[in-house]
Amino acid sequence: MSAVGETAQLASILQTASLLVTCGPGGVGKTTGAAALGIAAARRGRRVVVVTVDPARRLADALGIDVDAKMFEPHEVTGVGAAGGSLEALMLDAETTFDRMIIERAGDEAKAAKILANPVYRSIAGSLAGAQDYMAIERLHQLHSSGLYDLVIIDTPPSRDAIDLLEAPERLMRFLGHPIYRALTMPSRSFAKVANAGTSAFLWIVRRLAGPRLVEDTVEFFRSLSGMEQGLRQRAGEVADLLRADSTSFVLVSSPRSEAIDESTHLANAIIDGGFGLDAVVINLVHPLPPALDDSLDLDALGEGPLAEHVAYHRELLALATSERHEMAALTDVVSGVHVTEVPLLEIDVHDIDGLTRLAALLVGE
Ligand SMILES: Nc1ncnc2c1ncn2[C@@H]1O[C@H](COP(=O)(O)OP(=O)(O)O)[C@@H](O)[C@H]1O
Ligand SMILES: [Mg+2]
Repeated sequence: MSAVGETAQLASILQTASLLVTCGPGGVGKTTGAAALGIAAARRGRRVVVVTVDPARRLADALGIDVDAKMFEPHEVTGVGAAGGSLEALMLDAETTFDRMIIERAGDEAKAAKILANPVYRSIAGSLAGAQDYMAIERLHQLHSSGLYDLVIIDTPPSRDAIDLLEAPERLMRFLGHPIYRALTMPSRSFAKVANAGTSAFLWIVRRLAGPRLVEDTVEFFRSLSGMEQGLRQRAGEVADLLRADSTSFVLVSSPRSEAIDESTHLANAIIDGGFGLDAVVINLVHPLPPALDDSLDLDALGEGPLAEHVAYHRELLALATSERHEMAALTDVVSGVHVTEVPLLEIDVHDIDGLTRLAALLVGE
């Protein structure tokens, strides 16, 4: 495959997309790649914000994100924009994102404050199953609709299964439609009447585990959500639509290792089957393919010296690079028609702005 055609595709996505989601298995360079793509787009004159989920400390430092100070609001990364472009960065926090959503939906401040102070809310906001996934997307929606940016890039959370992220809005909608949830949100009188076996067994368990005070808090929490439910469901629906919009691009990042390729292949199918726009694949950390040496070269004849070591190393690298190309073929077959960009495993430190800029150039084919 010619590098030029493939990388040109990523460059044009950066020029036209308004949302970009980097996804893929752990450790393949999603967070680093999201930052590098942000730099590339800012250099092309776009106003970009990058939402990082789990930035390594040195990457966070390079982006000016103070992890200890919990920098959950966007702030400018200096010296990377050009021609009117700019880059802002932040890290994602599921809890404050959830708070913002409640404040927006509650309608009045007193109601919002009451919900936010509820201990049950506090524990759910942090740990509701899939909350991290959903919150990443919810945050993306907030930034996208703020009108402040041309392009929002979101890095995805380290998740057991990256597919969780794609299904998060639908899962939240299901949660809001769950019978226990509905029973709990009914007005008190009808609630008392219909508190059926299932619901009271549920409350009995909560009471046993957590004491009566928490039961009151739980019931109050769910009740205080009533009236907002419709709005929350509508928002989850909007988020689900936004993920499938034409202007949203998924960039699947992988490495050429077999486990990563398996996981990416699975994810690529889920993205395509779910009706999302898989617009580019990046295979990162690829070992360069060394030119073939004369096979007839007799290692023994070279003795023990440095030359024998070099030749042995060359052969190892060749074997590794060749097997990586076999692995990669399994993924490129599944995503036929989608542009694939290979990025070499670099010897340089990719954590600082120089390294990220170099990575950006490789990604867009500069
Ligand atoms: N092309 C590359 N060459 C060398 N190191 C890389 C490259 N891309 C990423 N890295 C390094 O790989 C590690 C994992 O990257 P990260 O972006 O945190 O992965 P993920 O977010 O997918 O878990 C980081 O230390 C990063 O600096
Ligand atoms: Mg990451």
